[in-house]
Amino acid sequence: MSGGRYVPFNRPYTTGRELEHIAAAIDGGHLSGNGPFADRAERYLEARTGCARAFLTHSGSAALEMAALLVGLGTGDEVIMPSFTFTTTAGAVALRGAVPVFVDIRPDTLNIDPARIEAAITGRTRAIVAVHYAGVACDMDAVCEVARRHGLVVIEDAAHAVGATWRERPLGGIGHLGALSFHETKNVICGEGGALLLRDSELVRRAEVIHEKGTNRSAFLRDEVSRYHWAELGSSFPMSEINAAFLWAQLGSSDMITDRRLAIWHHYFDAFGDVEEQGLATRPVVPDGCRHNGHLFRLMLPDEEGRTTLIAELEKRGVNAVFHYVPLHSSPAGLRYGRAHGPLPVTDQASARLVRLPLWPGMDDADVEHVIEAVHDALARRTAPAHR
Ligand SMILES: Cc1ncc(COP(=O)(O)O)c(C=O)c1O
Repeated sequence: MSGGRYVPFNRPYTTGRELEHIAAAIDGGHLSGNGPFADRAERYLEARTGCARAFLTHSGSAALEMAALLVGLGTGDEVIMPSFTFTTTAGAVALRGAVPVFVDIRPDTLNIDPARIEAAITGRTRAIVAVHYAGVACDMDAVCEVARRHGLVVIEDAAHAVGATWRERPLGGIGHLGALSFHETKNVICGEGGALLLRDSELVRRAEVIHEKGTNRSAFLRDEVSRYHWAELGSSFPMSEINAAFLWAQLGSSDMITDRRLAIWHHYFDAFGDVEEQGLATRPVVPDGCRHNGHLFRLMLPDEEGRTTLIAELEKRGVNAVFHYVPLHSSPAGLRYGRAHGPLPVTDQASARLVRLPLWPGMDDADVEHVIEAVHDALARRTAPAHR
């Protein structure tokens, strides 16, 4: 039925310069963190996002854990966030003994609904996490305004959002702290990797210590102190120079990678207009003010059964489509470590009905056409529901 073609959900994209840079790193004799490639990548991220300082980390999750340490979260503190996100958005907070408080998302962007935040604030609330799902920006004006009124810190989980903007401002560089991911499924990759972006110079001073295993080794390397010691709680957060060399090759091609992903995204979007008109599935919404990065393409089916059937039918046709996310508030660890502020119907619905289609820069036009044809074919077997 698939004509022999199989389109995987993701295939890591390489630019062709990764090995050359890794060889240069090996020749350079610096393989641990904070080497020359890491330095170049951090300066690049600072220039691109306008943040005061970028720290490369060994994962996006590690960047979130650094953020939780920097905010000084402790037992019983609360952090407001969506439940429709990856586990470590909440895990980073819970690791500090703080409580993730889940609020519902907007039905259009699937991002945190700013109108739901205020009611979830208590005397223990310390921060809000804005997750930019699919590289589509949260309404950062509204989120930052609530945070300002209540004296809260804004952490951006921009794991999906490298290269995307909100009202011309790069995501990850708008809140007090921002986390990026370079995991192999993201737009710009290095296997496992991430970055923490900071706007405030006081946070930068402390982050330098937390990043370097809780020591003042960076000051020592600048000859500011005669020896270094354990200064505060930190961990081994830096990215290895081998990964940073890989990342440097990707950063040089990041605009090209984004353009290719956007071209595929738009191809899907245009091709599924008919499906939306027939009430078989709806396409993503990108509000005014967002320039997204084509990180992922999703369709929303009318119900969970339709979603499950579509994934199975696509697999039969040689297309590997997947669901996204199992909500955190009803997951075993979410129930143990967090709490939902009221019912989260939009989250539950999105989680039950969403399908992600394959999207990676190395897909050729025939792969994209194959996916489009398979979706049309699979959905044609279903009749449009009477209501949505
Ligand atoms: C929204 C979100 N936050 C955080 C992460 C964690 O990033 P990493 O896999 O680099 O640790 C992910 C990874 O998929 C994610 O999707």
